[in-house]
Amino acid sequence: MTNYRLLSDLPLIPENLILPVEEILELHNHATWDNVTEKYTLHRCQDELSDYLKEMFPESIGFWYHTIVEELPIHKNGSFSAFYNRELPSTRLNYIIDSGGENVRTNWYDNEELIESVVFPERVWHELEVFVYHNVDNIDKGKRRVAITGS
Ligand SMILES: [Fe+2]
Repeated sequence: MTNYRLLSDLPLIPENLILPVEEILELHNHATWDNVTEKYTLHRCQDELSDYLKEMFPESIGFWYHTIVEELPIHKNGSFSAFYNRELPSTRLNYIIDSGGENVRTNWYDNEELIESVVFPERVWHELEVFVYHNVDNIDKGKRRVAITGS
């Protein structure tokens, strides 16, 4: 079973469209996740980047920066977005700007048993399954993982 797919043929996002992390963190943080909010932030991509990504992925609903420190607990993403007031697909498009360490893993679980694990490379689009239990761990102490995510 594979819960992700690398989309290596897709072009890199032009660097001038990606905000520095300090500026990303100044954007409104939409993350609402009990007891996890201090480890996780979620910010809408600025218009310039959103416009670029919508052209690249015409079917997409929207794109966000997300940042993680330490690790994310094992979770499944919800299928309904209150923000968009609609159902979301079971996969997300992701693009890592800063891995947050050499060996940061995205893991999937079945009944708390690890079934798959991957270290995603930076700046390679990939698609991942979020309706199967998953988490991210092994972020270096003091580092912040920064990525763009879309659905
Ligand atoms: Fe998730």
